[in-house]
Amino acid sequence: MNILVTGGAGFIGSHTVIELINAGHQVVVVDNLANSSSKSLQRVAQIVGQEIPFFEVDIRDRQGLSAVMEQYRFDCCIHFAGLKAVGESVQFPWEYYDNNIAGTLVLLDVMRKHGCKNIIFSSSATVYGDPAQIPITEECPKGQCTNPYGQTKSMLEQIMADMQKADPEWNVVLLRYFNPIGAHRSGLIGENPNGIPNNLMPYITQVAVGKREHLNVFGNDYDTPDGTGVRDYIHVVDLASGHVKALQAIEQHCGLAVYNLGTGRGYSVLDVVHAFEDANDLKIPYMIQARRPGDIATCYSDPAKAERELGWKAQFGLLDMCRDSWNWQKNNPSGFED
Ligand code: NAD
Ligand code: WQD
Repeated sequence: MNILVTGGAGFIGSHTVIELINAGHQVVVVDNLANSSSKSLQRVAQIVGQEIPFFEVDIRDRQGLSAVMEQYRFDCCIHFAGLKAVGESVQFPWEYYDNNIAGTLVLLDVMRKHGCKNIIFSSSATVYGDPAQIPITEECPKGQCTNPYGQTKSMLEQIMADMQKADPEWNVVLLRYFNPIGAHRSGLIGENPNGIPNNLMPYITQVAVGKREHLNVFGNDYDTPDGTGVRDYIHVVDLASGHVKALQAIEQHCGLAVYNLGTGRGYSVLDVVHAFEDANDLKIPYMIQARRPGDIATCYSDPAKAERELGWKAQFGLLDMCRDSWNWQKNNPSGFED
């Protein structure tokens, strides 16, 4: 298929481009580089042995997007482009609603005007709020999101579901990711956060590389086996292959389809710290701190629907994720900067 990948220079997008090309698809990337570097696509080209057509375009730029869509005839769009920092979204809600919601509205309109009504969207387990059930199935009701970032995911799901209902020519696949970590085995691409990392794994790798003194563990008084928060960490390469599998749903004219992409296993913060230490023979000093506002105790998926309907199942375990995250960070201590 001919696939437009928005946000394809970013963490999950760059890994997905590799899996798409390995599966024989043609890919064009659009990214405004707000949170990424075009060097990631140069590394992807090195891995797959071919250049990736890339346009530095903002998804809110109707003319820019239209020009790309006129040049290529896309069968499907995989839509990663968006801002994703939870804390930042509380500080800058307008910017998040503008970028994520207004941007996606422009994208959807330009797509339909060019006859492409197939989209795979990066949603998040955050739409379940404090989940009503564990493990979380797709039938679990959506919950209250505690931040504008989460609201954008929840609202965009609703917008696309409504559009699909009104026009059944649309095929919309909503992929709800759990906690993506890890990196490509080559160590050439990986997660490259700006400033102080919000997420656990990039913080741990920055402690390991000597950029931060110790990890702050946010709370050890949750109702979990060791008191620290439990999450469903998934290797980014598994997540990437989930998108390739999701194209089947599009090909089969799924209408609206929702899938969790997780492993179905929950690990605590301290489990991750210890796995990282074991996988890489390193010590990660940590200090227990107060809970982080907005955090929940436990969140992990029931990924059975994706296995049943798409034949997708995560292959990598926590040790692989820890090994590959570190392999990326230690070879690229400053990310894609020289
Ligand atoms: P990322 O920041 O690495 O990638 C997002 C990419 O989108 C970046 O390259 C950025 O430059 C680009 N972008 C942002 N706004 C844009 C715009 N207006 N026009 C064009 N490009 C734009 O993040 P990621 O971790 O790869 O996440 C990809 C998607 O998955 C996002 O939509 C994110 O919300 C979602 N998601 C991420 C996680 C996670 O933990 N990483 C979990 C659930 C969902
Ligand atoms: C994991 C666990 C923290 C950092 C977020 C977004 C979610 C999705 C994925 C985009 C929690 C603890 C963390 C640290 C810590 N993103 N922690 N010290 O909060 O599950 O999900 O990223 O869609 O929407 O909310 O991930 O990696 O931030 O935290 O103790 O320095 O690690 O409290 O228990 P989270 P996370």
